[in-house]
Amino acid sequence: MTKTQKTFSGKVRQSVKIAEWNERYRAREQAGDFEARPTPLVIETAEHLRPGRAIDLACGTGRDALWLAARGWSTTAVDGSEAAIAALRLKADQLRIEVDARVADLTKSEFAIEKGRWDLALMCYYLQRDLFDAVKNGVRPGGVVIAIVHTTRPGEEPTISRLRPGELIAYFDGWPILHHYEGASRDPAHRRPVEEVVARRPLD
Ligand SMILES: C[S@@+](CC[C@H](N)C(=O)[O-])C[C@H]1O[C@@H](n2cnc3c(N)ncnc32)[C@H](O)[C@@H]1O
Repeated sequence: MTKTQKTFSGKVRQSVKIAEWNERYRAREQAGDFEARPTPLVIETAEHLRPGRAIDLACGTGRDALWLAARGWSTTAVDGSEAAIAALRLKADQLRIEVDARVADLTKSEFAIEKGRWDLALMCYYLQRDLFDAVKNGVRPGGVVIAIVHTTRPGEEPTISRLRPGELIAYFDGWPILHHYEGASRDPAHRRPVEEVVARRPLD
């Protein structure tokens, strides 16, 4: 299977994808994968929050998790790629920062997102349509979710990893929206158009 295959079908495709990510990280194919600067939206959002417990899902090599942890967040970071988590752990050691870094395939529920545990949940540049409910339930009432996905360009169909512009915000129906943006990526590590959402879980 190739990266361009358009399918929403399940777990086989996703496991192949993790193998591809492992290869890409091991070969250090793209400098952006080892970008130290965090996602701009994470900085803009977290700057206004009191540090608590953060979960970074599909964290890659950990630019956001490390930045949060360095600012006092008790941070857990999860990615399916062993190579990504190895790179994250190495950086954390070098910087003397503590991050609870886990290898887990999120499509196989290898990491259980505990309900109401997290003050902040990140799902940046990772799309798993059936994960939104667990992520939303994972943050405490008043907690915040930051989600960023790549979006289609005019004429393109959605794929396993891309939504149509406007589809991301629909996952947060009923939640106060703190930030919503659709358009060119504001993150130097990404070139495709994006949709960004920051939403707060309503108080019970
Ligand atoms: C575009 S990178 C985003 C990394 C990070 N969030 C960032 O913004 O720098 C997507 C990440 O998703 C991870 N990934 C892909 N499929 C996964 C799965 N099924 N379970 C967990 N992680 C997965 C990849 O290993 C990769 O690190």
